[in-house]
Amino acid sequence: MRRRNFLALTGAGLATAGLAACGGSESGGGEGGGGGATTMRLAFNQTENHPQFIAFTAMGERLSERTDGALTIEVYPNETLGAQQEAIQLLQDGSLELAMVGGAQMENFSEDYIVFNLPFVFDSQEHQRTVTNDPAIIGELYASLEDQNISVLAGLHGGVRNVYNSKAPVVTPDDMAGLKIRVQESDTHIEMLNLMGGSATPMAQGEVYTAMQSGVLDGAENNELVFNDLKHVEVGPFYSYTRHLMVPDYLIANPAVLADMSDEHRSIFEEELATAVEEEGALWGEKVAEAIEAATAGGGKFNDDVDAEAFRAILGPFSEESVPDSETAQALYQATRDAV
Ligand code: GCU
Repeated sequence: MRRRNFLALTGAGLATAGLAACGGSESGGGEGGGGGATTMRLAFNQTENHPQFIAFTAMGERLSERTDGALTIEVYPNETLGAQQEAIQLLQDGSLELAMVGGAQMENFSEDYIVFNLPFVFDSQEHQRTVTNDPAIIGELYASLEDQNISVLAGLHGGVRNVYNSKAPVVTPDDMAGLKIRVQESDTHIEMLNLMGGSATPMAQGEVYTAMQSGVLDGAENNELVFNDLKHVEVGPFYSYTRHLMVPDYLIANPAVLADMSDEHRSIFEEELATAVEEEGALWGEKVAEAIEAATAGGGKFNDDVDAEAFRAILGPFSEESVPDSETAQALYQATRDAV
């Protein structure tokens, strides 16, 4: 593979300010095994309408019920606890218990995660959910960041990503020429978007609307929920079904959070997490349909007349040559494709 070295993690100060605002909580990681009530705060960068917000809020309620109030989860939406990179730093420091983060972030900690950030690795939402939650395929990947104070607890569906912009529909890679398109903070996605014909700008999700509004960006690439719920449709209404990526999100925890739970609480947590993963997946279809309807009413123009072959001719080879050389990454890629 090509070498990448990306993206200093930045901005923890900002998020610390956000956390101070929710301080005073009697909670925090590490009290779960004893009698004290533990509210696990989950940093989330999207709205209350998102399947992940709904599923993990419900999980918190079930946990509380099953542990007589000893454990619960409170999801903080809309980057209230910081953008994803900031949330990861807080979690590593032990100042935050849980966070939902895009797969793109994880490759900045271990290149093995690149495998799941590549185009066409997953054939369907079902394939993605099965693979990213199958211990036989995942092996040690999710535990491999514990020395960096990150435990990965589950893989979630993060939607199918498509390109949108303020100028015109995209049909072929030529239509991307000159378009400044936001990508996540990932070397893989910068390279991918540039190969697709556009000009990639990495940025945290919460900054995208303003950047599009002011013309710093012409567009972005994301699923229909982000397009509608974060109001990107207002500033970049041309949404074209390039379907170039299906990147998982991960629920991550500071390792102490689970380690400090009693065996009983831990097994309740794991059961309820499996239910939350299923629920999140099941909500996507209806949420996407609602987003398309609302975005269309708000002036969004959905274009499904995209030259998929032309994009595949670029992205297929890119994907294959971007799988890292490590034994773990190669085995992960093979097992993922075998599981189709
Ligand atoms: C998706 C994904 C998020 C990610 C976002 C982004 O919405 O679910 O985890 O942060 O894309 O593009 O930043």
